[in-house]
Amino acid sequence: MIPMSARGDNPLRDAQDRRLPRIAGPSGLVIFGVTGDLSRKKLMPAVYDLANRGLLPPGFSLVGFARRDWADEDFAQVVHDAVKEHARTPFREEVWQQLAEGFRFVPGEFSDHQAFENLKTTIQDLDKARGTGGNFAFYLSVPPKFFPTVVEQLKKHGLSEGTEDSWRRAVIEKPFGHDLASAQDLNQVVHQVFRPSDVFRIDHYLGKETVQNILALRFANTMFEPLWNRSYVDHVQITMAEDIGIGGRAGYYDGIGAARDVIQNHLLQLLALTAMEEPSSFDAKALVTEKLKVLKAVKLPRELGKHTVRGQYAHGWQGGEEVLGYLEEEGIDSGSRTDAYAAIKLEIDNRRWAGVPFYLRTGKRLGRRVTEIAVVFQRAPHSPFDTAETQELGQNALVIRVQPDEGVTIRFGSKVPGTSMEIRDVTMDFAYGESFTESSPEAYERLLLDVLLGDANLFPRHQEVEQSWRILDPIEAYWDKHGKPEQYTAGTWGPRAADEMLARDGRSWRRP
Ligand code: BG6
Repeated sequence: MIPMSARGDNPLRDAQDRRLPRIAGPSGLVIFGVTGDLSRKKLMPAVYDLANRGLLPPGFSLVGFARRDWADEDFAQVVHDAVKEHARTPFREEVWQQLAEGFRFVPGEFSDHQAFENLKTTIQDLDKARGTGGNFAFYLSVPPKFFPTVVEQLKKHGLSEGTEDSWRRAVIEKPFGHDLASAQDLNQVVHQVFRPSDVFRIDHYLGKETVQNILALRFANTMFEPLWNRSYVDHVQITMAEDIGIGGRAGYYDGIGAARDVIQNHLLQLLALTAMEEPSSFDAKALVTEKLKVLKAVKLPRELGKHTVRGQYAHGWQGGEEVLGYLEEEGIDSGSRTDAYAAIKLEIDNRRWAGVPFYLRTGKRLGRRVTEIAVVFQRAPHSPFDTAETQELGQNALVIRVQPDEGVTIRFGSKVPGTSMEIRDVTMDFAYGESFTESSPEAYERLLLDVLLGDANLFPRHQEVEQSWRILDPIEAYWDKHGKPEQYTAGTWGPRAADEMLARDGRSWRRP
């Protein structure tokens, strides 16, 4: 990988990156909830990185809306600090200066009519001063309970509709609802104001290079797809393990938990991409059709008590540091039953996958940060080798390493050099860092650019969101009624019950 400093500072050359060759037309972005963590750590740096790569129009404008007594300059300072701390590409004064000229801040509450009138005037002024052409995306980085108020205000103040020559779009952060019923209610509210094609629901996992690569791996090659079915696959494990705890997010996390936080969206999207049929083309409609078909075919095992597990991390040590247990975290009720770990078994009721379990697991404060999809193959139907010589031969596996060590691993058996026929597992690796010189754009960079371009490929449609809740709702209902999360020591690989869950099926979790 070429270090950033060696890439030169020619924006045109950066703009020629073949993975992001598209440049947004005249436009601006309004962020609600601009004082939040997401905005500071991801959105502001992504805007700067896009500008630095020459992918934003010269008059691009960024408007912050929040309950703060800030002037435009204060807002610019906040963005500046966020960019300095979190941007992926080097800081260049001339890029910053041009971008910062388009920064505006509108103070106000979501229910404040005058504030929305001010927002309208700000947008009109930007159109005149910077040529944004009336094209604005409204990013709702706010808790779902505020969605209805914000979108209704946008409508009431004439901000939600474009003209024949201009567009208005809504970008909605997860969680999109708390269950199926609330997701449907939210959809209704949003669709009363924005056309479905103007609503972009963010699932940042879909913006990750390695996640998009699942489709390339499966459908641009011939060697994997023939094996990608019940005749050869024993089971699939999808893991999203985090080493961090909930940090300062108690207010968001408690009552939501791991399953709603990431299984409902990220992990079920990974499942859909892994299990879906080939789309007829790579456009949004064709992709959604296939993802939806497979999500609809997902079935829960009958005995949820045996095939789902939830846990909470207990006090322990991680990376040489003593860390608090979930129930000791600031803002968490000592009697909380929220899951900080969740593992579930799913089946897919179709010809390709009948009888092949998909095991999904996620948790905070696990052994290390790793997200991967492991397709584990059946053992050879017959072995001519001596049992003693194949003791270290496991099952073949293809592992898509989503992060942090991005790439793909294939595991298979190989003869150990020597006079006996001993066979042992070996791996063949593809690593992004070794095969490509370009560094991968951040997921939010890719997704923000797609919003400005109106490209919906990487955004789940509301039917997918609803299907995901359909899958999760019975599990959450079961958990509400039965038992409580099992404690596991921070820094380990989760509750014992999760190991037992797989052991009952004669399998075990991978230790990535
Ligand atoms: C978010 C979840 O969607 O994804 C967080 O709300 C989680 O709880 C985060 O930490 C992980 O994202 P990434 O890209 O670091 O894997």
